[in-house]
Amino acid sequence: MKICVVGLGNIGFNLFAHLCHKFPGEIIGVDVNETRVKELRSQGYRVTADYRALTGIDVWLMAPSTGNQGQNLFAALEQMIIRPGSLISIESTLPPGTMSRVSEFLEGKGFILGTDLFLIHVPHRVMFGVDKTVCDTPRVMGAFTRACLEKGRQFYDPLVPLLVEVSDIRVAELSKVVENVKRYVDVAFAQEIYGYCVDQGMDYDDLRLAVNSKNNVELLATDWGIGGECLPKDMSFLRTVCNSILLEGAEQADRNYRDRIVNQVGSGKQVLVRGLSYKTGVKDLKHSRGVDLVRALEAAGNTVWVEDPLFTSDELSGSGFSPNDVVDQRIEKQSKEKDSVVLDRQKALNFQ
Ligand SMILES: NC(=O)c1ccc[n+]([C@@H]2O[C@H](COP(=O)([O-])OP(=O)(O)OC[C@H]3O[C@@H](n4cnc5c(N)ncnc54)[C@H](O)[C@@H]3O)[C@@H](O)[C@H]2O)c1
Repeated sequence: MKICVVGLGNIGFNLFAHLCHKFPGEIIGVDVNETRVKELRSQGYRVTADYRALTGIDVWLMAPSTGNQGQNLFAALEQMIIRPGSLISIESTLPPGTMSRVSEFLEGKGFILGTDLFLIHVPHRVMFGVDKTVCDTPRVMGAFTRACLEKGRQFYDPLVPLLVEVSDIRVAELSKVVENVKRYVDVAFAQEIYGYCVDQGMDYDDLRLAVNSKNNVELLATDWGIGGECLPKDMSFLRTVCNSILLEGAEQADRNYRDRIVNQVGSGKQVLVRGLSYKTGVKDLKHSRGVDLVRALEAAGNTVWVEDPLFTSDELSGSGFSPNDVVDQRIEKQSKEKDSVVLDRQKALNFQ
């Protein structure tokens, strides 16, 4: 079997590395980012940036970043040399309706799905920081034909703990988007209730303890807001196809939450922002609401210092922030003074 992983980012590379152990000598990876390919090659991985080198592939596992209209996926499909009889599994998260466009695209190339080409959608749902490998979580699989499902089952059954087959491929698409949007709405709800608790002088941690004592309820902790790449992106995928006041409200609630933090701080202050990564425990500043908050506080006329246990001072200053320790814990020393504010990521509205 010759297996190709398309897109070697967070998901694709982890999948590729995992499969290298399972199918030694059978895996190759492709990414359009030549720097990434060079880096992985120098570490001994069998990868390429040239689709022309990929002939006779039996299984294509596709995990490129999707693009807001699925354009990266179609760019990849356009370049793949697809052999009759092969299996194409799309693992990226898709805007609802994309699989229909993929099937039209492949049929336009002369393939008959379920006969000479097998197409499935098996969206990824790994939780980095929780799962040990990218294949530890139950997966959902959808296809247009039974034969495609059957082919997909043969490949994925030995790989994942549970394969949930759905008869309508749109359900597979929507399941991943809904999973993330549900989380988005839960966080927005938590932000609203946290704000209400602060208004009423109630302790939000106590409320969580009380509510979460029932095993089918989870009131989440808050952070700087709803960041990372996936949740906001998947919310926008869903909002494009589903007109919902609730979803609109959740997006607005998230914006309001950061506006409230900035308004509470006011201007002309020395502010210490504690925690900058997009989520606790993940060293990544991309799509971080902590970063957005720092910039909004600065725009409001404050001087902002930052700290994050995941980053060194050099890394923080290299990314354009003022690390707190270079001024010898300046803010904490001043914290009793009225022009200084310390903001903690899960207590953003509770500062003195
Ligand atoms: N990161 C997560 O936690 C997570 C979880 C579940 C699902 N997903 C989904 O998985 C997909 C990939 O996410 P990611 O975090 O790995 O993204 P990423 O940005 O880390 O990596 C995507 C990679 O795809 C490559 N790429 C783009 N167009 C390509 C093309 N035409 N051919 C080959 N490679 C191409 C990029 O160069 C990049 O290296 C997305 O759809 C995302 O929504 C991500």
